[in-house]
Amino acid sequence: MTPFARNFLLSPAGIRSTATGACQSLRGCSTNVARSFMSATRPSQHTFASSSSSSEKEEEEARAGAGSSEASEQKPLRLSREQRAMLAEMIRVDQAGELGANWIYRGQYAVLGSDKKVGPLLQHMWDQEKVHLKTFDDIIGEHRVRPTALRPFWEVAGFALGAGTALMGKEAAMACTEAVETVIGGHYNDQLRELLKIDHPDIDKLRTIVQQFRDDELEHLETALDHDAQKAPNHELLSNFIKQGCKLAIYISSKV
Ligand SMILES: [Fe+2]
Ligand SMILES: [Fe+2]
Repeated sequence: MTPFARNFLLSPAGIRSTATGACQSLRGCSTNVARSFMSATRPSQHTFASSSSSSEKEEEEARAGAGSSEASEQKPLRLSREQRAMLAEMIRVDQAGELGANWIYRGQYAVLGSDKKVGPLLQHMWDQEKVHLKTFDDIIGEHRVRPTALRPFWEVAGFALGAGTALMGKEAAMACTEAVETVIGGHYNDQLRELLKIDHPDIDKLRTIVQQFRDDELEHLETALDHDAQKAPNHELLSNFIKQGCKLAIYISSKV
């Protein structure tokens, strides 16, 4: 994470006070998380969907076969029903969010892509969002999580938001990025706080991905601030409108 993003998250006067505690707790574990990210290459063998009875049997046999001292050092083999439900919501909303982000940048690029100053910035951020979406497309299949049923709506809404703000000017486009990434960065931080409570092999990989993407989103936020986001006309009004829309989208896509 960049020094700016770290200061932003830790500042008591930061835009997102809810992220402060999460970031403080994350600082202590970031090294371990980064290490696990480098080694997290194996595909998941456990899903967040309900396990079959045969796999449950195998897991019980595995537990019974393990010595007591050895078993006490192992991570739990199964996630609880509540944990699976929570993770399914997280993955669904993250995939929907990355989908929306892609279409926001697509809309902005359609209007401002030829601008020599802003065009390359939008392309760079959009490229990162493409990686984010591809990753969650893979995760949602890997863990057999139901994707959002509102995909067409998020695509249209994202494009309209991106193109609409870009038509208002470069500063408004950056204000859109500032608002969206503020909410998404905080959203990922909230998820990290929950994921840190779960000790399971499947979670190590997901936690590391969420942390990496959180850092990317905060870099996008920093880019927007560096490129006059707060000079947009009616910045406060525009920013609050977009933030509330993002929060509503997060809630809806976690359920639908
Ligand atoms: Fe993203
Ligand atoms: Fe982003």
